[in-house]
Amino acid sequence: MQKIKVWDLPVRFFHWLLVAVVVVAFYTMKTEGAPFDFPIEIHAKAGYIALGLLVFRWIWGVTGTHHARFSNFIYSPANTFRYLRSMLSGQGASYAGHNPLGGLAVLALLVSLSIQVLSGLFLSDDIFFNAPLYSYVSSDISSLMRKVHTWNSNALLVLIGLHLLALLVHSLKGEKLIGAMLTGYKNLPDAADEQPGREIKRHLNLWAALPLIVFAIGLVAWLWRI
Ligand code: HEM
Ligand code: HEM
Repeated sequence: MQKIKVWDLPVRFFHWLLVAVVVVAFYTMKTEGAPFDFPIEIHAKAGYIALGLLVFRWIWGVTGTHHARFSNFIYSPANTFRYLRSMLSGQGASYAGHNPLGGLAVLALLVSLSIQVLSGLFLSDDIFFNAPLYSYVSSDISSLMRKVHTWNSNALLVLIGLHLLALLVHSLKGEKLIGAMLTGYKNLPDAADEQPGREIKRHLNLWAALPLIVFAIGLVAWLWRI
């Protein structure tokens, strides 16, 4: 076995804060929103934080650490199909980062989440809340965005459900994926696709993330105040 640093601090922070704000966004729309007096405002603020996190993740997926990069977990259709077949026959190889199917699911989640936050920016609750871009578009565009926001929120729930189901299957097989998303480390068989030499260089990468994090926080703060 080899112990490999897989998820850097920014990716882990991104993930758990994203989970929290997505839960708040759904909670404030699917319930009465207690204890909040104006759940739509909390909904929008949770959505702005999600937007900042996604801006960070899309850029970090190109500039970030080895396993955070899309090039590390977006595989060709042939490779994904091969992985699916070997998984169904009970011989799926171990991957340090996301496996080919997991990578596809992550991409689908990121795309759906991005559609959700962007469409939200054009909405109004027809009572007192207007999102930042609502007044810049016609009512036709806004009602189209409303449909997108509603339809995509259901697609997002399906994707999250599949995500949790996949995690359950992996944990029944004894793979500690959740622990890895908390600590950053995975224990992998020596035959896994990665070698320890590829470990993340922690300090370098945290510094590299800093300007991006500052930019994302600035964006959220600006939206928050509009
Ligand atoms: C994680 C991101 C988000 C999620 C999961 C989410 C989810 C939802 C859901 C489930 C609804 C109810 C849809 C329906 O049943 O018709 C909704 C409505 C709405 N969302 Fe979002 N949303 C997100 C981001 C945003 C953002 C960034 C904004 C804008 C600032 C926004 C503004 C609205 C508005 C104005 C409504 C309509 C409220 C009403 O009709 O009273 N959402 N959202
Ligand atoms: C609102 C619900 C959730 C959303 C939107 C979500 C979204 C995501 C995303 C986008 C990633 C990719 C991370 C990256 O590379 O940046 C991911 C990975 C992951 N998530 Fe979640 N997640 C949710 C809930 C959860 C929960 C509740 C858990 C644990 C109980 C969890 C555990 C994980 C783990 C372990 C990974 C890494 C999977 C792997 O090793 O390939 N997620 N999630």
